[in-house]
Amino acid sequence: MTNFRTFILGLAASFGLPWLCLIVIPALTYQQLTPVAYDKDADGLEGYYPPAPINGQGQLVYIREGCNQCHTQMIRPVQLGLDGWYKGWGQDQEQRAATPVRPTELRDYLGEKYALLGVQRVGPDLANYGWRAPAAAQLHQHLYAPRSVNDWSSMPAYSNLYKVQKIQGPVSKHALVLPKKFGPPSGYEVVPTPEAESLVQYLLSLKKDYPVPGQSAAVAAAAEPAKK
Ligand code: HEC
Repeated sequence: MTNFRTFILGLAASFGLPWLCLIVIPALTYQQLTPVAYDKDADGLEGYYPPAPINGQGQLVYIREGCNQCHTQMIRPVQLGLDGWYKGWGQDQEQRAATPVRPTELRDYLGEKYALLGVQRVGPDLANYGWRAPAAAQLHQHLYAPRSVNDWSSMPAYSNLYKVQKIQGPVSKHALVLPKKFGPPSGYEVVPTPEAESLVQYLLSLKKDYPVPGQSAAVAAAAEPAKK
């Protein structure tokens, strides 16, 4: 009988302790997170971190369309020097203007209904996409027909978020400008639905590397080009 008691206690400890340490304690601690004010003298910034919320309506479209299956929104920290963030990591592979990029922190997701860390990294990480995104028109083109932008793309076309309609009178000012191969039949135009508009606004609002209060100097130093 004592063996049975020890067995049950052991079982409770094996499942209970990890549950307490990995779920209950972090949940209770991190639910209390609130935006932090910048210190004007130390950070050289005013206002609160994180400053701008994401576009919540667009986030719902992102979730529904399953973008999260292929795109992460999280830049890993360095752990034991094995993995994680290197200077410039998380930016575009193409050489464009450098913007400071740092590992994502818990507070970066404040103000978001869901923290979309992502399932797999099939496509590029979008944590800081707002900084490198092209103009909204090109982003619409990419969502409507990814292969019209990159012919090697394995991203599905989200043409369901667009409407092909007969041109009546002048062409709509929202109509997509597409290469002939991807365009609608003549006499028709492709226009974004309100869902596509809010999805694009959401993508443009993704900026998860605002300076962390008390760390801005460190971030600025890290953003300097690596000495080779
Ligand atoms: C099956 C995987 C997959 C899914 C699902 C997917 N993507 Fe992609 N995405 C990719 C790949 C691969 C690329 C890189 C090739 C390219 O640019 O087309 C990419 C590129 C992108 C880019 C350009 C990123 C950059 O750094 O230039 C954006 C923005 C994007 N996807 C948004 C979305 C959105 C929004 C959705 C949901 C509506 C979505 N993706 C769904 C695979 C996917």
